[in-house]
Amino acid sequence: MEITKVVIPAAGVGPRFLPFSKTVPREMLPLLNKPSIQHVAEEALLSELVNMIVITAKGKEQIADHFDMSAVNPLIREHDKAGLLASIEKLARMAHFTYIPQQEPLGLGHAVWLARHCINKEYFAVALPDDIIFSKQPALSQLIRVARQEKASVIAVQEVPTECISSYGIVGIRKTITPNLFQLSHVVEKPNPKDAPSSLAVVGRYVLSSKIFNSLDEMQTYEQTELNLTDAICHMMQHNERVFAYKVQGTRYDLGTPLGWIKAVIGSALQDPDYGPATRKFLADINSPDSFLYNPAKIIEHNI
Ligand code: G1P
Repeated sequence: MEITKVVIPAAGVGPRFLPFSKTVPREMLPLLNKPSIQHVAEEALLSELVNMIVITAKGKEQIADHFDMSAVNPLIREHDKAGLLASIEKLARMAHFTYIPQQEPLGLGHAVWLARHCINKEYFAVALPDDIIFSKQPALSQLIRVARQEKASVIAVQEVPTECISSYGIVGIRKTITPNLFQLSHVVEKPNPKDAPSSLAVVGRYVLSSKIFNSLDEMQTYEQTELNLTDAICHMMQHNERVFAYKVQGTRYDLGTPLGWIKAVIGSALQDPDYGPATRKFLADINSPDSFLYNPAKIIEHNI
């Protein structure tokens, strides 16, 4: 089963990041020195997904500019003594990017549906740039392995606490195959915790059969209301397509909110060999009574 394409929906406004997201796409929020969407593109490339179909919107041109090495100002190249541009050079050389604008905010299902002309009768991946998953084996490649084994669609899931259930798609289990692999009966988008079929939440990585487009086609309405990907996956299951959920191994950060981004920045700095030791020292210092940050007497007033 050849899987070479990934759809990266990046059209959303990011209201929780306003005013930052007024002019800068929130997918450009950095984790260390790379924008979050580059982390997702690198995960895809490591998973041998060389065709990246990015769903964008007006005002998101910076995303395409970021991956375009022909647009680099020669002065920037000259100053890159540490060779930090090499990571984008690699992506530009090895991956093929297609950009499709989503003209109206009609939901994740609609964003994926827009990629239909780029995808033949084949399995393809979807990666949401709000979810960053750091792991030894890239999350997308974990899903691809399961999709090949089961010859079916697979969704990445992780356990979430009850209070977070209403923020996610939650899967209903038909059969437990292994402690990490489940065949699904249905998926519910952002349920009330008391109605949730499990505590396993969809975490922004999917490998889907191209049959999802039949479901999305059938679900389009003339009223043009939001189209959920979750509902289309359910529709596909009702039409006898098997769908699995796999508990992906890795550390996941939810960049959908500023707090999630703060955790991701700190978490990735702690894991980084260059930044880790100094970040650990800084965090220990914050909690110490002698700390500059902790001791109110040492606070310098900034008058604007
Ligand atoms: C989307 C999906 C949801 C999934 C979540 C993961 O929701 O619709 O099923 O659990 O991403 O981050 P969103 O966060 O875009 O509202």
